[in-house]
Amino acid sequence: MNIESNARNVFLSHYGRDADFVVKAPGRVNLIGEHTDYNDGFVLPCAIEYATYIAVAPRTDNMVNVLALDCNNEIDSFVLGQEVAHHPSQSWSNYVRGVVDELQKRGHVLSGCDICITGNVPQGAGLSSSAALEVGVAYAFNHLCDLFIERKEIAKIGQAAENNFVGCNCGIMDQLISACGQQGQALGIDCQSLDLIEVSINAGMTIMMINSNVKRGLVDSEYNLRREQCYDGAKAFSKPSLRHVSIEEYEANKAQLDEQVAKRVEHIVYENARTLSAMQAFTNNDIATLSKLMAQSHQSMRDLFEITTPEIDTLVEIINSVLGNKGGVRMTGGGFGGCVVAFVPNCMVEEVSAAIEANYQQQTGIKETIYTSLPASGVSVIRA
Ligand code: GLA
Repeated sequence: MNIESNARNVFLSHYGRDADFVVKAPGRVNLIGEHTDYNDGFVLPCAIEYATYIAVAPRTDNMVNVLALDCNNEIDSFVLGQEVAHHPSQSWSNYVRGVVDELQKRGHVLSGCDICITGNVPQGAGLSSSAALEVGVAYAFNHLCDLFIERKEIAKIGQAAENNFVGCNCGIMDQLISACGQQGQALGIDCQSLDLIEVSINAGMTIMMINSNVKRGLVDSEYNLRREQCYDGAKAFSKPSLRHVSIEEYEANKAQLDEQVAKRVEHIVYENARTLSAMQAFTNNDIATLSKLMAQSHQSMRDLFEITTPEIDTLVEIINSVLGNKGGVRMTGGGFGGCVVAFVPNCMVEEVSAAIEANYQQQTGIKETIYTSLPASGVSVIRA
C-alpha cells in the first residue's frame, strides 16, 4: 500500500473519520555547497522522492491532536491560541509545536485539527526528515486555515521553529528546498537573497544516496560550534558573513587568523566558488568537472571543516574507485555520519552498488543502505 493511503487509513481508524487532505513534504539531498547556507553563501540541493506525509482534518475546537506513526504511534495534544510549551519527552512533538508556535507568533490565527504523520525519509540520515516535517506542518496549517503564506516564508517558519524551539541553529537550505523543490531540477540557492536558480539534472545520470548508517552523535553541538567559528572568521575580516570574503582576501590574510578558524574559513570561501562552478557544470553536463568539484568538496569537509567520519571517508573512496571521473561523490548534509551523495551514469549504478555491497561492511563493520531518487517537487497538497 502506498504511504499516502496508509496515512489516510490509519487516520480513519484512529480518529473515526476521513482526513480532508494529505500534505506531502519531501526530504532533500545536497549536491554541493555544505555549511555555506548560514554564511549567506550558495548551495545546490534537490528535493527527493522520499517524503513526509501529513493527513489532516479540521476540528471545531482549538485542540491539535497528532499521531506519529513512525515514532511508535506516539500521540501529542496541545491547545491553540496560547503560548505553546515544549514537550517534555517526545522530541518529534517539538518540530510540530515549534512550527505552530512560530505561526502564532507571526499573528496567524489557526484552527484546531487532527493530524496523522508518517513517511519514508530515513531519520537521522542527513536527508532532512526534520525539515520535511516542519515544512509539511506549516503547509498543512497554511492550507487548513487559508493563510496564503508564500513558499519561501513557509521555509523561514520551519527554520525558525528549528532554531528557536528545537535548538539547532540550522541555515535555510533544507526547509527552502523542501518548500520550493522542482521536479527534474536541482536548485542553486543564493542564501543571502534567497534567489533560486533552476539547474537541470541530466536524465542519463542517477542521484544515489548511500546511508553510512553511522549514528550521528553530537550533531547539534558540533553544528552550532562550526557556525560560531564561521562567525568568528567573518568578524576577523570585519564582514557581516563569510559570503563577503573572497578567495583572494582569504589567501592574503590567512596567516593572521587563528589556525582552526582559518580552516573553517578556507572551506567556506572555496566551497562557495565550487558551488557556483558546479551549477555551470551540471547545466553543461560537464561530468569530469563535477567529479573534480565534488571530490574537492569532500576533501575540504574532511580536512578543513572536519565534519566527516572514517566510515564516510571509506564509503567515498569505495565509490570513487569505481566512478573515477565518470561521476562525482561526496558526503552530503550537516556531517558526522549520515549519507554520501553520488552522481552516477545510469549504466554504472549497478557496478557502484556492487562495489559498496562488497566492501563497505567488510571495511567498517556497518551495513549501508542505498537509495536513488530523481529530483522531486516541493511540498504539495494531495486531495482525496
Ligand atoms: C544541515 C542544516 C543546513 C545546512 C547543512 C550543511 O542540513 O540544516 O541548514 O547547514 O546541514 O550544509
